[in-house]
Amino acid sequence: MKFPFYRPRRLRKNRQFRRMVRETTLSVDDFILPLFVCPGKGVKKEISSMPGIYQLSIDMLVEEIKEIDKLNIPGVILFGIPESKDEIGSTAYADDGIIQEAIRAIKSENKDIMVITDVCMCEYTSHGHCGYIKKDPVTGRFDVDNDETLKLLVKEAISHAKAGADMVAPSDMMDGRIACIRKALDENGFENIPIMAYSAKYSSGFYGPFRDAAESPPAFGNRKTYQMDPCNTNEAIREVEMDIEEGADIVMVKPALPYLDIIQRVKDQFNYPIAAYNVSGEYSMIKAAAQNGWLSEKDTVLELLTCIKRAGADIILTYWAKDAAKWLSEQED
Ligand code: PBG
Repeated sequence: MKFPFYRPRRLRKNRQFRRMVRETTLSVDDFILPLFVCPGKGVKKEISSMPGIYQLSIDMLVEEIKEIDKLNIPGVILFGIPESKDEIGSTAYADDGIIQEAIRAIKSENKDIMVITDVCMCEYTSHGHCGYIKKDPVTGRFDVDNDETLKLLVKEAISHAKAGADMVAPSDMMDGRIACIRKALDENGFENIPIMAYSAKYSSGFYGPFRDAAESPPAFGNRKTYQMDPCNTNEAIREVEMDIEEGADIVMVKPALPYLDIIQRVKDQFNYPIAAYNVSGEYSMIKAAAQNGWLSEKDTVLELLTCIKRAGADIILTYWAKDAAKWLSEQED
């Protein structure tokens, strides 16, 4: 018996047909690799909750960059583990801070690779919060003061740009930060340095392993007074809209996997480059399952990265950038 109707399976029967009709193509061009920089020499310390990811001292970081460059990954985003921390995160904007030194070291070896910096205070403050802490006159609780924090973030962004960063990425979620940082960059001769705004950054349990990696858990409370509530989606649209108005060049949704609907809404609504952050917890859970032999890391990772792209992301920040670059260069069946 013959069926004269459309059969989608006709174009699935071999690899070449599947290639021809593919709607989403994942490429190494899409990736940014997050890296953790720590003090010392010759340090390459594996993060226990993120197997395969390391804290690297600057000399080791420079070696790592060579490998990343060979894999043709376009950019990295740096997170710093400073020598010392204080209430106002002074090492975040010190000329000889860990990130500032790391940027200079990378740039002296490699001018091509995009060095992006995370602009936030949490890795540098003794209390582990993303900004300046003050007693809230209304609630009586200690909380991050928005406008005082803006001053610190501006100093941090400018000091990264001065050290040679190619792009700054504020991840603190203070209101008005993009406008302040854009203005300061322009006034200091950095009008060509773009801003990648962590626009819709949710208060998420999936950041757990990162806080181990960056040694930045909040000493008290949580980040719910500044990061977004996972229940909200209209608010994400407002956040993105504000950041675009304030001068963001790329807007980000973070985490990625549980927030694909947000990525898609942002994509549909704004004709803008979107980054998605495939965060530490998303990495660790697959890694743990793979290590137990419960699933195939390569299959699931290539699938999930493709799905993030299909939802609308143009750029994916992922700890799998190196592995995925290698896997993508192998022939599929
Ligand atoms: C800094 C920052 C965080 C992440 C990126 N920048 C942690 C946080 O907000 O607690 C998380 C990245 C990850 O989980 O991979 N504010």
